[in-house]
Amino acid sequence: MKTLLGSAVAFATLVLVATVPAKAQAVPEGATQAMVDKGNEIFHKSGLCYACHGQDAKGLVGPNLTDDVWIHSKGTYPELIAQVMKGVPKEESKSGVPMPAKGGSTITDDDVKAVAAYVWSLSHK
Ligand code: HEC
Repeated sequence: MKTLLGSAVAFATLVLVATVPAKAQAVPEGATQAMVDKGNEIFHKSGLCYACHGQDAKGLVGPNLTDDVWIHSKGTYPELIAQVMKGVPKEESKSGVPMPAKGGSTITDDDVKAVAAYVWSLSHK
């Protein structure tokens, strides 16, 4: 009985720990947590970013976006917005693979700001 109670307590603790929300991600200056959350959804859906950068953003044909290595800028929030707007023309691409403007998606300029905030947060945990 004692052990049964013990495991019940242990189980309850486990459930408690598991339901504590994940630590909020860092948010760049000029953006909000709501934008980062929206950007997360855009990255994996309408923005098509996942198709080239991977579901975990750790890189496929496009580079890893979760580390602090930036090929095309210093990775500041304004630079990331500009980068996503413009994409990476073939002649500027290090790998020779271009990135179309907005990833070739039809997301709005506000969506670009949100997805750039999400990308920024990935490398600022
Ligand atoms: C068609 C494939 C493709 C899609 C879709 C795509 N990218 Fe890219 N992305 C690339 C490639 C390729 C590069 C640059 C590779 C190089 O220079 O070698 C790149 C570069 C970047 C960079 C600059 C990385 C650095 O190190 O400086 C950012 C930021 C970025 N992409 C964000 C996004 C976001 C956000 C989306 C979605 C809106 C997106 N990409 C969609 C292929 C893609």
